Amino acid sequence: MPFPAIPGWDVSGVVEAVAPGATGFAVGDEVFGMVRFPSLGGESAAYAEYVAAPASHLALKPAGIDHLQAAAAPMAGLTAWQYLIELGHDHPNPLQAQRHRPVPLAGRKVLVNGAAGGVGHLAVQLAKCKARTSSRSRRAPTSRSCASSALTMSSTTPGARRRTRCASWTSSSTPSAATTGRFLRTLKRGGALFPVFIGFRDADQADERGVTVSMTQVRSNGVQLAAFGQLLDAGTVRVAIDSTFALAQAREAHERAARGHIQGKIVLTVA
Ligand SMILES: NC(=O)c1ccc[n+]([C@@H]2O[C@H](COP(=O)([O-])OP(=O)(O)OC[C@H]3O[C@@H](n4cnc5c(N)ncnc54)[C@H](OP(=O)(O)O)[C@@H]3O)[C@@H](O)[C@H]2O)c1
Repeated sequence: MPFPAIPGWDVSGVVEAVAPGATGFAVGDEVFGMVRFPSLGGESAAYAEYVAAPASHLALKPAGIDHLQAAAAPMAGLTAWQYLIELGHDHPNPLQAQRHRPVPLAGRKVLVNGAAGGVGHLAVQLAKCKARTSSRSRRAPTSRSCASSALTMSSTTPGARRRTRCASWTSSSTPSAATTGRFLRTLKRGGALFPVFIGFRDADQADERGVTVSMTQVRSNGVQLAAFGQLLDAGTVRVAIDSTFALAQAREAHERAARGHIQGKIVLTVA
């Protein structure tokens, strides 16, 4: 990465100008998006007052949420979406040779490890909504049920999670690679494990146990973000804000992240 570089990918704001030929948005539109991910060279530059973004990476900000929530949603939400719902891109997968294939959630039990974090708290809500919707459960999903499940999962201790009896697990796990093998013991044959981090090391053990392990790298996708935005707009899925910092306090924001035990997302605000 050439320095100096401006970090960050997630944004929410108002369109100030539209490039010739760009379509879909007009000056004054409120938009949000994960801009140019993956990219490492500062091309996204989201820690800024103004950001140039491809129109295909943006979606209209849901009217039902504010810019804080919208800025917190794109990367974590798209990661959960592209692991659990639909992949949404044909780019080579840097985390494994084959294409990641989300499994149908109908009838599945889903364990989200790290459910208090950015990806985790949205993954648990998405999984609950989609599993119920597609399994035609008599208990229709409500905004309260999907959002409150995230809070319940977040406050559950790892020991308590392990005691839960499940026919099959789809685990979207977020912590470090050194601890991945322990998840396999909680999965039944035929289950699937979706680590979101780089470096899952127990592929042989997973094969022996009949567990599918699959990973991918999230990519910018305005169309999927618009679909996810409908759930945010309706309050079916809610974004939790751990803390906010002014843009000039970005260093403090990173120090907060480094302390761990995050409850949702950290957001930088601009005047
Ligand atoms: N594949 C992709 O495209 C993609 C996209 C986005 C993010 N990621 C990766 O996904 C991971 C999560 O990202 P995030 O933004 O959600 O991070 P985050 O907000 O920091 O959340 C991480 C969560 O994991 C928990 N955790 C950490 N170590 C744990 C352990 N050993 N056992 C159980 N829980 C543990 C944390 O809880 P405590 O701090 O309380 O322990 C926290 O709830 C990161 O590794 C990130 O790099 C991958």
